[in-house]
Amino acid sequence: MELREVIGRRRSIRYMRPYQPVERHKIQRMLEAARLASHWGNVGGLRAVVVERHTAPQETLDALFAPVAGFQIRRAPVVIVWYFDSAAVDGQGDRLRELLDAGALGVGPTKKEDLEAKIIPFFQAILEMLKGPGLNEVDCGQGIAQATLMAYEQGLGTCCLGTANTEQIRQNLGLPETSRVLLLQTVGYPAEHWEAGGQRPRQAFEDLFHLNSFGEAFPRDEAVVDELTDDKMFTTPAPLPWREAELDYLQKALDVPGSGLI
Ligand SMILES: Cc1cc2nc3c(=O)[nH]c(=O)nc-3n(C[C@H](O)[C@H](O)[C@H](O)COP(=O)(O)O)c2cc1C
Repeated sequence: MELREVIGRRRSIRYMRPYQPVERHKIQRMLEAARLASHWGNVGGLRAVVVERHTAPQETLDALFAPVAGFQIRRAPVVIVWYFDSAAVDGQGDRLRELLDAGALGVGPTKKEDLEAKIIPFFQAILEMLKGPGLNEVDCGQGIAQATLMAYEQGLGTCCLGTANTEQIRQNLGLPETSRVLLLQTVGYPAEHWEAGGQRPRQAFEDLFHLNSFGEAFPRDEAVVDELTDDKMFTTPAPLPWREAELDYLQKALDVPGSGLI
C-alpha cells in the first residue's frame, strides 16, 4: 500500500476482534517505525510498554484505564502504553556529538569546537527546562504517528486513548519516576469495515493553514485534491449510509457496554 493510501485508511478503530491476537512481528514493525522518528537533539525520549491481553498478568491489564470510550482497553488484544522518559534528555550532549560524527549536523573545520564551546553549554544551562512538556511531546507524537501508519499498512487498526490518570498508570506499571505516560494506544484487527463509517470530519483546510502571514489562507489547489482522491488519501466522508446498522451489529457482537462512550 502506498503511503497516501495508508494515510487515507488511518482512522480511529474502536471496535476490534477481541479473539485475534496481533503477531509480535507486526508490533515490532510499529516500534521500529517509532524509533526512526525525528527527535529534538536526537534525545529519543519516546518509550513504550506493550501489553498483550493474552500474555499480560491480570494486574497489569487492570492498571490500564481511560475515561472516554475506555471499554476498548478491555477488548483490544494489545495496548501500547507510550511514555516519555525525561532521563533521555541527560544524554543530550552525547546525542549531539553523535549527530556531528554522523555528518548530520555542522560543516567545516570548527564544527567540533563550536559544538563543545557553544551549543552543548547552551543546552546544559537549560537542561531541566528541556525535560518539561513541549518539544518532547511533539517528538513523541511523531514517533507514535509513524507507528500508527505502520499499523494500518499491516492491516491493523488502532485508537489513541488519552487518560488523566497518567501518574497512577506510571506507578502501576513500575515505570521510572522520570517518566510521563502520554497515551494508551489500542491495537488489533478491526471488527468493523476499514472505512469505519467513512472519513471523519475535519476543519476546513483554509481555516487551518496560512501563507506568509496569519489570515492569508494557504491556497488549496483543487488539482492536488483530485490527485489525492485518485490516490485514495481522500475517501468517502462519514457517515456512510449503513454506519448505524454496522454500529448496532458491533455493539451486540462485542458486548459494548451502554453507549460505548464510557
Ligand atoms: C492524543 C489523542 C488522544 C485521543 N483520546 C481518545 C480517547 O480518549 N478516546 C477515544 O475514543 N478517542 C480518542 N482519540 C481519537 C480521536 O477522538 C480521533 O482522532 C477522532 O475520532 C478523529 O477520528 P480519526 O482518528 O478516526 O480520524 C484520541 C486521539 C488522539 C490523537
